[in-house]
Amino acid sequence: MGLTPVHFFSHGSTMMLGEESSSADYWRKCGDEALAHGIRGVVIMGAHWDCYGDQIQVSTNPNPDKSPVAYVHPSKYVDYKLNPDLATARRCVDLLAKEGFNVSGNDTFGWIHDVYLILIRMFPNGCPPTSIISLNARYDPHYHMKVGAALRRLRAENYLLIGTGGAVHNLYRNRWAPMLRFRDNFAMDTPPEGWALGFRQAVEDVILKSSGPRLRRAMTRLMKHPEYRDAHATDDHFMAAMFVAGAVGDWEDEGSPAVLGAETWELTNMCNSQFTIGTWGSKLG
Ligand SMILES: [Fe+2]
Repeated sequence: MGLTPVHFFSHGSTMMLGEESSSADYWRKCGDEALAHGIRGVVIMGAHWDCYGDQIQVSTNPNPDKSPVAYVHPSKYVDYKLNPDLATARRCVDLLAKEGFNVSGNDTFGWIHDVYLILIRMFPNGCPPTSIISLNARYDPHYHMKVGAALRRLRAENYLLIGTGGAVHNLYRNRWAPMLRFRDNFAMDTPPEGWALGFRQAVEDVILKSSGPRLRRAMTRLMKHPEYRDAHATDDHFMAAMFVAGAVGDWEDEGSPAVLGAETWELTNMCNSQFTIGTWGSKLG
């Protein structure tokens, strides 16, 4: 039986939904490949939904709203029909509970652009059945890595696991003025700063040059990188990378190829790197 690949996508700003980019093209390509391989559904961890205390939740709202997004015409998202996968959500709750997580379903949660931006870009003609896994607001890298590890087996059942966060994502250090001046979120009248370039390279090195349990160790260690706090003023957009490392960091995943499929710099200092680890049809063991 094969194992599906796992994506770590950097969703960037809301404008990545409205404006064309090589990242958007790559998301579409990944979506097309997933559909061609008949995926049963998507299991996704984002960056914008976290739970207090020691809990984690899974979306079980049968009719979720979409939170509105800035700088994007409503026609780009309001009519896109979301497709919550309640059966798989319950399965995720069971798998996580079995591993000792304090986990429950949440039947009132509305979906946010970190998730639906990616779904619209990957699957513009229809949303596959999707389950969303929340973050835990303590932002423990090892905790989120273990969430991915607990759900890893779904890859063998043809589910597509995705983490959507950011490689370099510090809203406080983005340069917003060129976007406003030129009406262009990709406008860059100065180069990215050194810390952004440095951490972006560290993320690429970890993902492309390590695999299996080494990937898990290296990914969690990135939060101790000297430029981490410059690249991530808050930890929320890096937890999905830990989820991905858990989902594709078993001993069986050693040697899994990884690619940097696309990369889009936005607002000068935000690096939207798009990674895929593993390939369609990779074998167990
Ligand atoms: Fe975000």
